[in-house]
Amino acid sequence: MIKTRQIDVKNPATGEVIESVKVDSKEDIESAILKGHSALKAWSSIHAHEKARLLKKWSEIIHNNKSDLARIMTLESGKPISESLGEVDYAASYIDWYAEETKRLYGRTIPANSENKKIVISKKPVGMVAAITPWNFPAAMMTRKAAPALAAGCTFIVKPAEETPLTTIKLIDFAHEAGIPEDVVQCVNGPGKEVGEVFTDSKLIRKITFTGSTPVGKQLIKNSADTMKHVSMELGGHAPIIVAEDADIDLAVDQTIASKFRNAGQTCICANRLLVHESILEEFSNKLKTKVEQLKVGNGLDDDTQVGPVINEKGFNKIISQINDAVDKGAEVVCGSNTHSDTEKEYFFVHPTVLKYVSRESSIMQEETFGPVIPITSFQDLDEALEIANSTPFGLAAYFFTNDYRTGNYIHDNLEFGIIGWNDGAPSAAHAPFGGMKESGLGREGGVEGIEPYLETKYLSIGNLS
Ligand code: SIN
Repeated sequence: MIKTRQIDVKNPATGEVIESVKVDSKEDIESAILKGHSALKAWSSIHAHEKARLLKKWSEIIHNNKSDLARIMTLESGKPISESLGEVDYAASYIDWYAEETKRLYGRTIPANSENKKIVISKKPVGMVAAITPWNFPAAMMTRKAAPALAAGCTFIVKPAEETPLTTIKLIDFAHEAGIPEDVVQCVNGPGKEVGEVFTDSKLIRKITFTGSTPVGKQLIKNSADTMKHVSMELGGHAPIIVAEDADIDLAVDQTIASKFRNAGQTCICANRLLVHESILEEFSNKLKTKVEQLKVGNGLDDDTQVGPVINEKGFNKIISQINDAVDKGAEVVCGSNTHSDTEKEYFFVHPTVLKYVSRESSIMQEETFGPVIPITSFQDLDEALEIANSTPFGLAAYFFTNDYRTGNYIHDNLEFGIIGWNDGAPSAAHAPFGGMKESGLGREGGVEGIEPYLETKYLSIGNLS
């Protein structure tokens, strides 16, 4: 007898199993893909205003269940409940945005070079889309992919992270409750490699969209080559914050905290390196220390928690080894660097940590941390800061603080990043294009740009008209 495999979903704050989810077999996934493919014609034929109505209904149901959904998210991801409530709104805002964009999938006509001809351009859905979503934003990363796919007329299948499938399962239930047919939006569960290979091998899947690590993204692109799938990749980051000599230091401190400690530093766009002008280094780090020490660490379900646990032991070990490496290479611990964890119970907390005089050779200055640690280094002039900021294979997000428009313009022109915050540590929005340059990914999600990757352009040339 074949034993049914299951995923035990654990609360990262306590290590307790919250629920178990069945792992789908290869046959289950292939059958779901076939259903999604068969539903494509009917779904893509539904007119835009009806698709918009169904998407808006989905968003409405999500809003009506906001607190339940946020609680599930906190239980499985560990993020503070205030952040989970915010993520529910953020997730729904992608659905609202693409419910409107579906009505604007315009084609165009091109003046022909003969009276006898007409040229018509139209937009068509790429086909069935498979998504693989991460544990750090279990709701928003799913709707950021599902909403434009459905709005474009594609059918959609998602594999959520094994750590956080419960939020996605709920979102899919709500989509069905809203009237979106069951075969049009589906969820399957299992280990990333196994499910990913079924997706990439399938000729029926025409597009893969992924948020996660750069090595996995590269593998998915390679595996998608044989069937020439469309790919959208939102991959790793290593965001710098540049604090210029003239910056508003209080604003820079507050926005650094907002960026760095969101989801305990486990976001692709959170500040990973702080580059502070040498003339303000002491004032900046003292003010930062005072505020960081006040952050409340704890179980995300407690109302006053601002920093929750990190997701698992692997993540914890990476963070600790980066701190130790920086200290070994001469960094000073300004605050934090203590932990509370239990390997047997499988919960791992890292207290917000600030490091100063961090050597550029330290691993924390070269790799994504995904944890609540801020390494600070100083610079003498803007070109040095830009050189440090850009010397990474990643190009997702970058931030800078200055009140001088010439300095701001110069920094913006020279940063090689897809998302830039100027005096702003929280740039994410459904109506703006999110995505990275270099090894941080391919394509954009959100904004008018975010639906384009789900569309094919079809060109019709009509001849012999007169
Ligand atoms: C991410 O970390 O991948 C997403 C963050 C965001 O959308 O703000």
